[in-house]
Amino acid sequence: MFQSTLFAHTKRWSGGFLRCGGGELPRVRRYGTLNLDAPLRDKTIKGILLSNQVGNQVKVNGWVRTVRKQKQIAFAEVSDGSSLKGIQAILPSEQAKGLISGTCVQLKGVLVESPGKEQEKELQVEEIQIIGSCDESYPLQKKRHTFEFLRELPHLRTRTKTMNSVLRLRNSAILGFQNFFQSQDCLQVHTPIITSHDCEGGGEVFKVSGNRSHPDRVHKPTSPAPSEFFDHPAYLTVSGQLHLEIMACAMSRVYTINPAFRAEESLTSRHLSEFWMLEAEIAFLDGLDELLDFTEACIRQTTKYIADHSSDDLDFFNQWVNKGVRARVDHVLSKDFVRMTYTEAVEILQKSKVPFQFEPKWGHGLQSEHEKWLAGEYCNGPVFVTDYPKELKPFYMRVNPDGKTVSCVDLLVPGVGELIGGSMREERYDQLHQQLTDCNLSPEEYQWYLDLRKYGTVPHGGFGVGFERYIQYITGMESIRDLIPHPRYVGHCRL
Ligand code: 4AD
Repeated sequence: MFQSTLFAHTKRWSGGFLRCGGGELPRVRRYGTLNLDAPLRDKTIKGILLSNQVGNQVKVNGWVRTVRKQKQIAFAEVSDGSSLKGIQAILPSEQAKGLISGTCVQLKGVLVESPGKEQEKELQVEEIQIIGSCDESYPLQKKRHTFEFLRELPHLRTRTKTMNSVLRLRNSAILGFQNFFQSQDCLQVHTPIITSHDCEGGGEVFKVSGNRSHPDRVHKPTSPAPSEFFDHPAYLTVSGQLHLEIMACAMSRVYTINPAFRAEESLTSRHLSEFWMLEAEIAFLDGLDELLDFTEACIRQTTKYIADHSSDDLDFFNQWVNKGVRARVDHVLSKDFVRMTYTEAVEILQKSKVPFQFEPKWGHGLQSEHEKWLAGEYCNGPVFVTDYPKELKPFYMRVNPDGKTVSCVDLLVPGVGELIGGSMREERYDQLHQQLTDCNLSPEEYQWYLDLRKYGTVPHGGFGVGFERYIQYITGMESIRDLIPHPRYVGHCRL
């Protein structure tokens, strides 16, 4: 049986795809022709503009952003997403007939020094090929569109300058985070998307259900048919932390970049139902201060990476979206983050005499208005708030010697509020058992988590950065919904 199957495959391969018995390799390129450094034939606009090709023939692929026609010549701005400005193409008006915003083109011509102030180089077009014509109903015109309008066009808004910049900054930020974690000997790991627990204990989980009537499903005739696909409730992860803890208790320093899902009904400018989180978990930490140092270094190094690699995009947001973006970035790069306890924060809020909608009181959570005021008005920059009352925080946080507070931290930043949540984890078996009971969670269900404390426990801690909130902070954008290509929030899941 096995042999005949193998034979059947061998015969099929020999028919078209792979060599069998000395035949030719029809779909394989000639040996030695692959350029490992540049396997794609054409250069991006960024590549062309950066390379020293003035006076040379070049080929540009992209989408027309705008066309300005004069009597003799026309100017077209063509973008392929690789750089903020795209390239200015000069062509005879004759050839620009029918060329409208949105058209996909290939232009051949000579790269020349530009006499204009806006750009250093431009393309003198000699040949134009329309790869994809664009219908006149194309909704993205030269005028500025509102972000609300663009959200209704999730398949086209990635062609706007703002969304292009957001995507490039997201890319840069991920590389910045990766560089930082790798420089600290942290190992990138992958945590599951489907889990059996609600890590934060907030009950804001999306339940996962499957097709129960699948014919391959084997039921024991004696047992009742399972009501769940996994035979127990399963959810989309709200955080990879607990799985990271498992790995940190073996690999010492781990991190992950994962989507997280929260069924929060809050329709605010900083909440999404699906967002990305960068989470780190570090073993052998001396205490909360060391975790704070590590967290601060992470944000400052990542921001430095962005400032070094995506300066144009930061300038774009500084000019068009929020004039404070550059100052924010400079602040992160040059000033230490403020540190205060929750108790100090509440006292500062109470003394401020600001007419907050919610009165700040010890034992109550900090509201968004409190967080924004503390970071924005009071500190004028990022501030770590530590040691919250234990009733306000999840079961896994390490209880402080006062018995009332936990060894935890929220990083608050201007304009956004909470950017990071983290803590030292309760590594003492008995205390953790007590915390589970106090939080009405079953120690039996969390026996595996308790086991990590039973079999070679270690002081450890970690944090989670809300990725879109970080991008919101460094771009100064108003709504988190415009910082992810396909935002999901209550009542909204397009495409
Ligand atoms: O403070 P949170 O809930 O912390 C945790 O999930 C921890 N388990 C992380 C850890 O220690 N490994 O979430 C972390 C961050 C928040 O500070 C916030 O920036 C972001 O995730 N966040 C959201 N971002 C967008 N939309 C939402 N609904 C968010 N909820 C949290």
